[in-house]
Amino acid sequence: MKADNDLYRQLREVPAAQLWNVEVPKFNQLDPKERNQQVALVRAVGVVFSTSRNPEMKAAVKAWMISLLQDPSEKIRRYATAAIPKLGGDEESERKLIDILKTTDVDREKKKVASALEKIGGAATLKAVAGSGEKLIDEQKVRASVARQGGPSNVRLDAIVPKQPGLRLHLRCRKGLESIVADEVREDEGRGGKFRVVEVRGCFVVVEPKDAFTLAELYQLRCFDTAAFSLAFIREPGSAEALEVLAKAIASPLAEKLMLALTQGAARYRLSMVSEGNHDDAVAKVAKKAFELNPRILNDARESPWSVDVHFDELRALVELRPRISPNPRLYYRTDAVNAASHPPLAACLVRVAGRQDKEIVWDPFCGSGLELIESALAGGVGQVVGTDIDPAAIAIAEANFKAAKLPGTKAAFHTSDFRDIVRIPELDRGKVSLVISNPPLGRRVRVPNMHGLFTDLFKIASEVLRPNGRLVFINPLRLSSVDPTLRLESSRTVDLGGYDCRLEVYRKR
Ligand SMILES: C[S@@+](CC[C@H](N)C(=O)[O-])C[C@H]1O[C@@H](n2cnc3c(N)ncnc32)[C@H](O)[C@@H]1O
Repeated sequence: MKADNDLYRQLREVPAAQLWNVEVPKFNQLDPKERNQQVALVRAVGVVFSTSRNPEMKAAVKAWMISLLQDPSEKIRRYATAAIPKLGGDEESERKLIDILKTTDVDREKKKVASALEKIGGAATLKAVAGSGEKLIDEQKVRASVARQGGPSNVRLDAIVPKQPGLRLHLRCRKGLESIVADEVREDEGRGGKFRVVEVRGCFVVVEPKDAFTLAELYQLRCFDTAAFSLAFIREPGSAEALEVLAKAIASPLAEKLMLALTQGAARYRLSMVSEGNHDDAVAKVAKKAFELNPRILNDARESPWSVDVHFDELRALVELRPRISPNPRLYYRTDAVNAASHPPLAACLVRVAGRQDKEIVWDPFCGSGLELIESALAGGVGQVVGTDIDPAAIAIAEANFKAAKLPGTKAAFHTSDFRDIVRIPELDRGKVSLVISNPPLGRRVRVPNMHGLFTDLFKIASEVLRPNGRLVFINPLRLSSVDPTLRLESSRTVDLGGYDCRLEVYRKR
């Protein structure tokens, strides 16, 4: 085993072309004993070519692996079996693997073949497994694989979620932003929107649909991060019954109804325990039990259109069914992002707390990819946006994103510039800007030598450019307030920005 591993490590250093053109032909010439000693080559070739972008090359390697399934040595067959799913299985390899499963007496080989068939299995495997009492292959995995081969599954934004008594959605957000998310829902309801706030909790807002709705309508709201249907709660997450309750929630008529109504393709879900630690065993048990209860819904970690998320708090766990919507319709404008790009719902929350004024002129001094400016313009009533950033690549992205946002009513100007150089920027007339809005460098992903100096300058310059009653709305990572008497702190709330707290602050120019 050690010798195999050492040889494998050596072979991984060998260029791919040499592996294929020199080492593989040499291997093919060896006698059976020598081939067994060189089996690490099969593993190395499988791993190296699994990421090849050349389909012909990959097909040739796969054909070699399939030929090795006839090898008299169990070890060589087993290594080839393990490599085949990585190279992309097909009907031929499936057929050969099923033959081995039926004929081999070696348990180790049976297990490897079963695991490969779970990954690549199609109709033939399903036929061999379904109702046969075959224990080694997980029927659910094969069904999921067959479903995937039938084409991608997507959650349909335009499908109607029927009116359903007691149906609740959880709109999740970063801690500290809940009231902003709730506020947006209430304002939307006032304009005829379909959702009503039921409760505001830590990190999420519970809403109730007042009528049948589509996810496209829900995604008109911009401040929440993810939306999920509430399925159940588990009173004692540590208890023996907890997994049973979870499996029942997944297999429930409600989950099935939602998944079938909203999915194009097969109803597949991944199960995600939103807490630290390894939950592999629990996930496997729950998935098995849920499949026994309802075989129309399939657990599948790969490319599944749904996620069942289990969120734990001290006393209980919440079970949610979350559509995995991709691409995100709210980000239709995003052509590219900068390294420290804002979390898009955070940008929308900044815009919401800023409120609206007439004839807005909006400046983001640290605009990055431009999300705050685009969200401002999307909210309406903005005549001009101005973005500055010291990074020319960020400015190019902001310009492209703004163009893709298609906001013809708003003029846009982007400048590669330090935010302090406002004299060079014609759109930034002193006393004319109505809103300075930004998610500035927070000293983590974008390093700044003098954070204190940067924010002191931000207050000073914001005060210079803002018109009376104008606002400075930004994320403040420091315990630093404006000492400028013309800027009055109007609100400050603590927001969790992914493990560290900052403040979302609003200052108003007197
Ligand atoms: C957190 S990122 C902004 C992210 C942006 N809101 C977005 O959505 O992509 C901070 C940006 O500040 C820029 N920056 C850092 N120091 C600056 C300075 N002195 N003047 C202007 N921009 C600066 C960085 O290049 C970076 O793009």
